[in-house]
Amino acid sequence: MMFGAFGSAAFGLPSSLVALLAVLPTSSLAWSIRATAPAKNLGTVLAENTNLTTYLSLVKAYPDILLQLPSDDGVTLVAPNNAAFSKYQNWDPNNKELVTSLLQYHILQGVVLTASVPKGASNFATTLLKDPKWTNVTTGQQIVFDKQPDDLVVFTSGLGTRSTVVESDIPFTGGLVQVVETIMVPPARLEPTARDAYKDLQSFLGALYLTGLVREFAESPNVTIFAPRDIAFQRVAGALTALSKEELTTIMRYHIVSGQVLPSKSFSNTSSLATSSGKLKITRSGNNLYFDRAQLLQPDILLANGALHIIDGVLNPNNTAAAPDPALGTQTPAYPQTGATATGTAVAHPFTSALPCTVDCPVPTATDGSGGGGGGSGAAATSGTGAGSKASKGGAAAGPRCTGMAAAVMVGVAGMGLVGGIV
Ligand SMILES: *[C@@H]1O[C@H](CO)[C@@H](O)[C@H](O)[C@H]1NC(C)=O
Ligand SMILES: *[C@@H]1O[C@H](CO)[C@@H](O)[C@H](O)[C@H]1NC(C)=O
Ligand SMILES: *[C@@H]1O[C@H](CO)[C@@H](O)[C@H](O)[C@H]1NC(C)=O
Ligand SMILES: *[C@@H]1O[C@H](CO)[C@@H](O)[C@H](O)[C@H]1NC(C)=O
Ligand SMILES: *[C@@H]1O[C@H](CO)[C@@H](O)[C@H](O)[C@H]1NC(C)=O
Repeated sequence: MMFGAFGSAAFGLPSSLVALLAVLPTSSLAWSIRATAPAKNLGTVLAENTNLTTYLSLVKAYPDILLQLPSDDGVTLVAPNNAAFSKYQNWDPNNKELVTSLLQYHILQGVVLTASVPKGASNFATTLLKDPKWTNVTTGQQIVFDKQPDDLVVFTSGLGTRSTVVESDIPFTGGLVQVVETIMVPPARLEPTARDAYKDLQSFLGALYLTGLVREFAESPNVTIFAPRDIAFQRVAGALTALSKEELTTIMRYHIVSGQVLPSKSFSNTSSLATSSGKLKITRSGNNLYFDRAQLLQPDILLANGALHIIDGVLNPNNTAAAPDPALGTQTPAYPQTGATATGTAVAHPFTSALPCTVDCPVPTATDGSGGGGGGSGAAATSGTGAGSKASKGGAAAGPRCTGMAAAVMVGVAGMGLVGGIV
């Protein structure tokens, strides 16, 4: 795949970067870009931009990545500027595996022209990052991009990291360069994403541990996960905790679609979607989107193996008949509200005692698992573009004080030192 476009001419090239870059394939799309501005080869474009010296030095150090650029439709290089790199001090530019993966995650298949990014729902693009050590999205890990009301284009990557385009649509012979001010982070696994970045998913994750489904959810290739926020579990805690493990397993598997990474914009009205335990119904009403009766709250969160959407109700494969009522702010739960208040805020977070403790976990107190109430969890309740900053603030007080992260679940992201305040 890598040498197809320029054949054996690639072999025996002088290793100088400029020579190497000069032979990058020129796609028809790039030709049309060239019509508006004369395109230079990538080496020239990068060398001319004084804000990209760190990026250029990395590209020079690992030139193989550019030899692997797909030739067909052109590419988009998302190039972090010097300021972006200077935000992160604790990573090793000589770590070949890390830098290679990072650079691959910053190359999008296909040309993203900022003028043609639609406003509204988020879009997904496929990157060149495919190494199963870093992702189980088999055809290339995704990034999310959207256009804000002020017309800025923002790329969103793992753990809700947002990278704004500060210099746009710089043409080169193989596509476009988009310069960003924050490095994009390859999406983390489900466990740290649910537990530490979006703190409103403790019961969901706990239920997966309880039913032994963590690996199925976190490692199956190409998945789409619907994760009810804590308050949804609290509301029906009585009904759910009375179930057998088998019943709970079936219910949890109704929250995952295998084999497809689906952005929220792909869900069409009145369609149905095959989960691992039966079919979900999809309803759109105005800007609202419902899965059976549960409303989408926070869409398009990237995981190492796919995408996750936060919803406001626990789905019930045995109770799919009732349609959502868009006039209601909160839908009627799909389970009886036994032993719970209507809001659930005063109820224990079910299943959180199944969460494993982590290395720096203080000794749990007697109230372990009862949480601090999900107050304020409405903060994440937007059905917008997932633009809600780095991470949901919702339910921050919930759950036991297990703030650390097991080394096993970190999969390099923390090792990259790129996750700033989150880990
Ligand atoms: C470099 O960044 C500065 C500040 O963001 C900007 O004013 C300047 O135009 C950039 N340089 C180039 C070559 O684009
Ligand atoms: C991908 O899945 C394999 C198991 O098939 C697992 O060993 C690996 O850690 C996963 N990669 C990531 C990044 O989660
Ligand atoms: C994996 O997901 C990507 C992104 O949605 C998709 O293009 C591709 O077809 C999927 N691959 C498989 C094997 O399901
Ligand atoms: C979805 O389909 C229903 C039933 O056909 C229809 O009443 C409703 O207007 C549709 N919603 C949108 C957003 O198109
Ligand atoms: C769902 O229905 C099946 C078959 O009718 C039954 O065995 C199962 O216990 C039900 N699960 C729940 C949670 O009610």
